[in-house]
Amino acid sequence: MIRFTVYIVDDEVSIRKGVYFALKKYYRMKAFPRAENAIAELKKDPPDLILLDIGLPGMSGMEALRRIKAADPNILVIMVTAYEDIQTVISAMKLGAYDYVVKPIQMSSLRLTVKNALETVRMKKEIQALQERYLNENLPCFIGESDVVQEIMGFIEKVARSRDTPILIMGESGTGKELIAHTIHYKSPQYQGPFVPINCAAIPKELIESELFGYEKGAFSGAGASGKRGLVEAAEEGTLFLDEVSDLSLEAQAKLLRFLETGEYYRVGGTRRLEIHTRVVSATNKDVLGMIEKGLFREDLYYRLSVVKIQVPSLNERREDILPVASYFLERLGRKHGKRFTGISHDAGEFLKSYNWKGNVRELKNMIERGVLVGEGPQLRLSDLGLNDLHHHPPITHDTALPPLPECGIDLGALEAHYIREALRKTKGNAVEAAKLLGMSYYTFRYRMRKLGLTTGLRASSA
Ligand SMILES: Nc1ncnc2c1ncn2[C@@H]1O[C@H](COP(=O)(O)OP(=O)(O)OP(=O)(O)O)[C@@H](O)[C@H]1O
Ligand SMILES: [Mg+2]
Repeated sequence: MIRFTVYIVDDEVSIRKGVYFALKKYYRMKAFPRAENAIAELKKDPPDLILLDIGLPGMSGMEALRRIKAADPNILVIMVTAYEDIQTVISAMKLGAYDYVVKPIQMSSLRLTVKNALETVRMKKEIQALQERYLNENLPCFIGESDVVQEIMGFIEKVARSRDTPILIMGESGTGKELIAHTIHYKSPQYQGPFVPINCAAIPKELIESELFGYEKGAFSGAGASGKRGLVEAAEEGTLFLDEVSDLSLEAQAKLLRFLETGEYYRVGGTRRLEIHTRVVSATNKDVLGMIEKGLFREDLYYRLSVVKIQVPSLNERREDILPVASYFLERLGRKHGKRFTGISHDAGEFLKSYNWKGNVRELKNMIERGVLVGEGPQLRLSDLGLNDLHHHPPITHDTALPPLPECGIDLGALEAHYIREALRKTKGNAVEAAKLLGMSYYTFRYRMRKLGLTTGLRASSA
């Protein structure tokens, strides 16, 4: 049971005492003859509710209300007025007063007014406590024991604390970029605010601006009659997550840049300049630097988005994380499907550690889920993963019949360069996808390209 604290501030001793004794049975009461005394006490012993006389000597009730709301907007204030001066009451309500009572005070009706007001405080506190408990129990958990993941987690703790530093997360598909964006939000001061994800690749090019910034009524044919607020506005005092940010058109990039530079924007078809605060976290699995080289992504926007950069390595590059992540999924997905596993068998573990995880953690999660659904326990076995022996690896290279080596030999470098160019052509210059086609990690791919002097080849291949 919450025991609320209530102040009564009134210069008339009879009212002060009357209210004090009428409510003492239900609340912790404190009485003050002047607003100055009550305000001095706010920090030391903050109240949940204040009954505040309007006509006080010294600091007026209205001035006191202003100061109380500035000190803590959550404190409820009920104004006490000698006569029903509607103008003053309206002004007080505009300043944030919750309600008012007229003298002479009817103690029974005052009790009811205070009780109802505090009921809203109680509900707010309960909701907040539940929200915190829920977050603690369900907080997204980025698992990993490798040095690089530990480093990333330490870095996230630090950068999340700043309210508005833009963060760009880069990494292959399925490495956990969205999970990291969530983690940043929940570790930030605005964790109770909204987390608004936008998949920039999924929104049609011509709609992206109105989706982001909203539109005024009649802005374009098909625009709703009442206008609409945009996703940027929905993320106010929270986090705006721009997923696949490199898929934005150049036009949308220009609009986003202006917003990031000034915090201001216009709705489509609108003339009012709007302003909001939100943190922008963006993610991409594309080679943004390559896109800048090709003029497909604005360099200035890249620098704005990537004040802080987080590069998430592929799962193949941090194999120490495979078993901890797999065990985590085994436990969580086991719970989801009502099954209990004691662990992962030795050969299944060996397989997982040596597998080529092209789909990264997402692929690992899917494989474990399959195992959980099929397996009988108590351990997760290799056969549960759809494999019967350790040598049943999915082929990393395509199993086509290769021609024998000609007598005159071959130029392996030229062959490699040829296939790299081919892969880039097929994937329209997407280095991440091209690397996958060649069965190598993005970093190996970039390394080989550099080694073969293929940076310009990238440009030529897209032409
Ligand atoms: N380190 C991790 N610990 C626990 N779960 C993880 C981890 N990394 C990824 N996951 C889980 O793997 C799945 C894929 O992750 P996520 O969607 O964040 O990847 P992504 O990098 O955003 O991929 P894409 O580029 O395809 O959008 C999610 O279910 C996520 O919760
Ligand atoms: Mg994602």
